[in-house]
Amino acid sequence: MIYNLDCINGAKQYLEDNSVDLIITDPPYNLGFGGTSFTKSKKPRFSIIANDKLSAREYQRFTFQWLKEAYRVLKPGRHIYIFIDWRMYPLMALWAEKVGFTIKNTIVWDKAYMGMGWQYRFQHEFILFAVKGKQKVRRISTRKATDIIRVPRISGNKTVHPTEKPIKLMEHLIGNSSNEGEVVADFFCGSGPVAVAALSTGRRIKGFEIDPEYYKIVNDRIQSYQ
Ligand SMILES: C[S@@+](CC[C@H](N)C(=O)[O-])C[C@H]1O[C@@H](n2cnc3c(N)ncnc32)[C@H](O)[C@@H]1O
Repeated sequence: MIYNLDCINGAKQYLEDNSVDLIITDPPYNLGFGGTSFTKSKKPRFSIIANDKLSAREYQRFTFQWLKEAYRVLKPGRHIYIFIDWRMYPLMALWAEKVGFTIKNTIVWDKAYMGMGWQYRFQHEFILFAVKGKQKVRRISTRKATDIIRVPRISGNKTVHPTEKPIKLMEHLIGNSSNEGEVVADFFCGSGPVAVAALSTGRRIKGFEIDPEYYKIVNDRIQSYQ
């Protein structure tokens, strides 16, 4: 079930306390990002994603609000994965701990191919890995998993969203932190890789996407998957 709503209001309306088994989410990083540009025209492929160009104060308020909702709805001891890049990592880690999450590790997603930039071109992103509360915590499913995950990124000209992540990466995280039949939530669905991965691994999905265009893409992907 995906809702075309702001995740803060949507969670308040549709998600009960301690009702979600796993959260995987990729929020706006507040970088004013609209994706890569076309090679010839140099024009950006997409418009800037919602809530990605806020003042520092607005971004802090927005992030605190959704983190508080994420904390409320997650079951105690269960996992949350938050995508973030190096610029926003320190603040996201600080704010996540302030709302009550205990950070267990930071995963490096190795995208296998280099991306933009000209001084050490970007090839990774961070995934903050935390649990709700401090009490007995669920182990991830395999002790062989390491904190570097190599999954090729989707090449810029094949993406339908400016910050699209691969389904395979989400399937890996879902497999490590949940069981079949459980509920996975994504507060910022985008093009829907978490939603598709949840379904492909036999989980249930609850998600929010504020942009009607991306909401349609997620729904279409879910329908064609089903
Ligand atoms: C970083 S992108 C997620 C991309 C996604 N992981 C993918 O692979 O396609 C963040 C998404 O959150 C959406 N968004 C921004 N503010 C939102 C809000 N308050 N509630 C729900 N969705 C929001 C944006 O429209 C954008 O699609």
